[in-house]
Amino acid sequence: MTRSFISQKAARFTESVIREMTRLAQRHGAVNLAQGFPDFPAPAALKEAAKRAIDADKNQYAITWGAKAFRDAVARKHERSSGVAIDPERELTVCCGSTEAMIAALLATVDPGEEVIVFEPWYENYGPDAILSGATPVYVKLHAPDWHYDPAELRAAFSPRTKGIIVNTPHNPTGKVFTREELLEIGALCEEFDALIYTDEIYEHIVYEGAEHVYPMALPGLRERTVMISGLSKTFSITGWRIGYAIAPAPISAAIRKVHDFLTVGAPAPLQEGAVAALELGEDYYDGLKREYQRRRDLFLPLVRSAGFVPSVPQGAYYVMAEYPDVGIHDDVEFTRYLIETVGVAVVPASSFYRPGEPEAKRRVRFCYPKRDETLIAAGERLAALARR
Ligand SMILES: Cc1ncc(COP(=O)(O)O)c(C=O)c1O
Repeated sequence: MTRSFISQKAARFTESVIREMTRLAQRHGAVNLAQGFPDFPAPAALKEAAKRAIDADKNQYAITWGAKAFRDAVARKHERSSGVAIDPERELTVCCGSTEAMIAALLATVDPGEEVIVFEPWYENYGPDAILSGATPVYVKLHAPDWHYDPAELRAAFSPRTKGIIVNTPHNPTGKVFTREELLEIGALCEEFDALIYTDEIYEHIVYEGAEHVYPMALPGLRERTVMISGLSKTFSITGWRIGYAIAPAPISAAIRKVHDFLTVGAPAPLQEGAVAALELGEDYYDGLKREYQRRRDLFLPLVRSAGFVPSVPQGAYYVMAEYPDVGIHDDVEFTRYLIETVGVAVVPASSFYRPGEPEAKRRVRFCYPKRDETLIAAGERLAALARR
């Protein structure tokens, strides 16, 4: 008998489709609207601060759960944004991106066989996160085109086995921003079933006119059962720095800190110093960020529409789920390959955000638009070829 050197856990998930699309885009010289990272520069103040930190020899391990200056800056900024005061000594864990914060939080709180509720479509990391942490995912549909959930389906997903629910708001891939009423409803179920609410709020500062980001932990009764995940990747256009964090009540944070310590020891020390400069930027910065992303969204949507796609209009984050035009292809993965190889624009097939065989997914692809105007316009020109077919 041949022995398998691959663990059952690792065998249960595939490599990231999003990162694969990025590699395919590079191979075919396609405009990359697949992976959600900016192609414009990060703010100069951060870069200068990180360079100064390296020159000042802040080059050794920081405190495992985060450099003190950075944790204090997160606590100040979080209170300004959400109105909730946190204790940076006991309730905050700085991780290598919110990606690590989420898996560390799940590993620290979920026992094998316990259930974690996930809205479908979901950010693709949550699937492997569930497998690695031993959680059994339970899915609740977000229904297109406005991505609402059905309250009866949500209630039916909760049971005594539910350890928690992952709420990503603003949401990738749909651009949904959960309303206060929805979050209160989710929170009430968490209280009824004594479950945690893991929030992924990485897009907390990217919301558009008419929408508001509501911090679940600021809602009545939720402070003690919220594990908030966020980070600096998206807000400050520094996805490569790998700076994120988890905020949770002290006993949960203590467990997250232990897991984090043995996963990565700590986030990059000099970059945490640079990140302090980011968090010291004032409200003007956040207003400018929202304005710029709103402008990019409003530039991009007409380009997509005129190529024959039917997009959902995002209320937050920087993704567009769109039904693709009829070019004789009826499979999202096949359409994505065609778009990359023939049209020269990379996107992500919607099926990477759904369970296998979901018909909603087969008709859709996801674009991202954290890009310079010229990148979006170049993509629009290539997409226009579809309408001329
Ligand atoms: C919903 C969501 N969570 C987390 C991440 C990853 O964030 P980080 O760079 O902090 O690991 C992303 C990146 O695309 C995302 O879309």
